[in-house]
Amino acid sequence: MYNSKITGLGYFVPENVVTNDDLAKVMDTNDAWIQERTGIKERRHVVKGGDTTTTMGVKAAKIAIERAGIDKDDIDFIVFATLSPDYYFPGPGVLVQRDLGIKTVGALDVRNQCSGFIYALSVADQYIKTGMYKNVLVIGSELHSHGLDMTTRGRSVSVIFGDGAGAAVLSREEDNSKGLLSTHLHSEGQHAEELSLIAPGMGKRWVTDIIEDNDHNDESFYPHMNGQFVFKNAVVRFSEVIMEGLKTNDLTPEDIDMLVPHQANLRISQFIQKKFGLGDDQVFNNIMKYGNTTAASIPIALTEAWEKGKIKEGDLVVLAAFGSGFTWGSAIIKW
Ligand code: ACO
Repeated sequence: MYNSKITGLGYFVPENVVTNDDLAKVMDTNDAWIQERTGIKERRHVVKGGDTTTTMGVKAAKIAIERAGIDKDDIDFIVFATLSPDYYFPGPGVLVQRDLGIKTVGALDVRNQCSGFIYALSVADQYIKTGMYKNVLVIGSELHSHGLDMTTRGRSVSVIFGDGAGAAVLSREEDNSKGLLSTHLHSEGQHAEELSLIAPGMGKRWVTDIIEDNDHNDESFYPHMNGQFVFKNAVVRFSEVIMEGLKTNDLTPEDIDMLVPHQANLRISQFIQKKFGLGDDQVFNNIMKYGNTTAASIPIALTEAWEKGKIKEGDLVVLAAFGSGFTWGSAIIKW
């Protein structure tokens, strides 16, 4: 059995900055409300005709591959996590294989929303642990802005989300005390609709509905979130799954050097920080700049933390996420 280790990280965010004041011009909201409830000051939105989920993922991946010190031809497998794919099918994994000119390796798409990157990491880790693959490219990318209800009706959801991508190369590590020590995944489908986008989906018979009934303004064509219910579940599940990961490895919260939580809401991160007694330098947050980028949020934050020198060799790094599904998960990493 091998371990897997993150050997390269990269991220890409579109240039176009959308501030809270910009949003207040198109819907009834304001900077104070958004900052107080979410911590977000600005986010990035792809301009019309600009990047796609795939092209942002490709840009992040190129940086991660270069930093891993490998060639694209060394990639044995691709895992792509997103809730905002370019096409209904095929998923973006094969588009990355094509656009990066990677040989005909397998490409897998992960549909686990905010937990997507941790699910993707866990899949990649198992392939490396068993010895099947040496280098796996893991991408989380989202283009939310084109699918949000940018009117007052959608304000409680639309102010939260931003666009961007992050990527990691996972490589074989022969020393079992290093790299990904364990990953922990959970789901509770009972609450599937509490944070969801119902259409397009075959359950909605969306083609017929759009074309024949002309109900494209139906609320089910936009994301729905029961905010307070999601918040309450998130703080409980984040705490549980972090503790589960620590206990599995005979560790305690005191052993954490850096917690990189999914950037759902600054208030959730602050709650977790307080609960585990962590200092400001032990939790990395960048939701203020990018909003919630769902499957991209952890790899973007992890890359920024690493670039700023906040993650060093030998550190215990904990990743944790909670989101639509509900799904949640954690990863315990000895850097
Ligand atoms: N601007 C101004 N007012 C607003 C806005 C807005 N953008 N959105 C909602 N409001 C109003 C509401 O209409 C409501 O008004 P009312 O009292 O007159 O009815 C009031 O603000 C309070 O609305 P709530 O929805 O109760 O506000 P809440 O304090 O719950 O904050 C929020 C909403 C930020 C979504 C919060 O519930 C939350 O963070 N939930 C956690 C979910 C989460 O983190 N989601 C992130 C994405 S999901 C994920 O990553 C898994």
